[in-house]
Amino acid sequence: MSTLLVDKVKTIKTLNNIADSGLNVFKKDTFTIDNDSENPDAIVVRSFNMHSLDFGSNLKAIARAGAGVNNIPVEKCTEQGIVVFNTPGANANAVKEMVLTTLMASSRNLFDGVAWTKTLEGEGEQIPKLVEAGKKQFVGKEIKGKTLGVIGLGAIGALVANDALDLDMDVIGFDPFISVDTAWNLSRNVQRAMTIEELFANSDYITVHVPLTDETKGMFNQGTFSIMKQGVQILNFSRGELVHETDMEAALENGKVGRYITDFPNENVIKMKNTISIPHLGASTQESEENCAIMAARQVKDFLETGNIKNS
Ligand code: MLT
Repeated sequence: MSTLLVDKVKTIKTLNNIADSGLNVFKKDTFTIDNDSENPDAIVVRSFNMHSLDFGSNLKAIARAGAGVNNIPVEKCTEQGIVVFNTPGANANAVKEMVLTTLMASSRNLFDGVAWTKTLEGEGEQIPKLVEAGKKQFVGKEIKGKTLGVIGLGAIGALVANDALDLDMDVIGFDPFISVDTAWNLSRNVQRAMTIEELFANSDYITVHVPLTDETKGMFNQGTFSIMKQGVQILNFSRGELVHETDMEAALENGKVGRYITDFPNENVIKMKNTISIPHLGASTQESEENCAIMAARQVKDFLETGNIKNS
């Protein structure tokens, strides 16, 4: 029987599903492959960083229960003939909902307003008067009629684009890797930017949904900020390294970027003004964790049984 090692894939349903597949499942919260019984045929991993791990001699496949594979040493795997899977689309709805939630909440200054209201604790009867001041301070903007630029029109980007249209936004799409016409279920009402510069120049909000590669690393930088509208709001639920941090800090400071919403906080980002930092919650829903884990387990099962390496 093939052995499968699983990291924090929490739902019992998922584990049952994997177990039903006829695999011998070990669930581990930390990875050390330190004895023969833990010399797995395959590993399903979510967040654990696999870069420093010595693979056991049996390892044939690693499946990432998520979209990004930057916690997996893909090159080393390729050299050793280990197949790497990911689960494109399985968490797309969760990320889409988070993008639209934060986009609207940011436009209405909701995060600042809620934090400010908390400071009124203890003010007693003064609260209604103080609330009037807060009301003036946190006047927001509606997203209706504003332009959303969506970079990357894969599973997540296409969902965001389509739903933003339903919210009466104008939507411009661009994809650096795939032809916009082959993008997943994309509404015909999404305007297709011919170049990324066209998207940058015309968007009030920009959301990015591309993987981290040599081409996309640092794509938000001083040069690209200079093309954008004054006060543009940027949402990053893809990878922190897409943004050049020092340039972002300067752009937030001088108001070129009105707000940076990011799922990838670090010491620098947290201290920047006008930043909404979220602890990598974009895909963190019960449904998405389950979808990703099931998809990853099925891929591995199929691969171990039939040798199929199709990532679906
Ligand atoms: C992903 O790569 O799928 C996302 O970053 C979500 C996650 O890993 O939590």
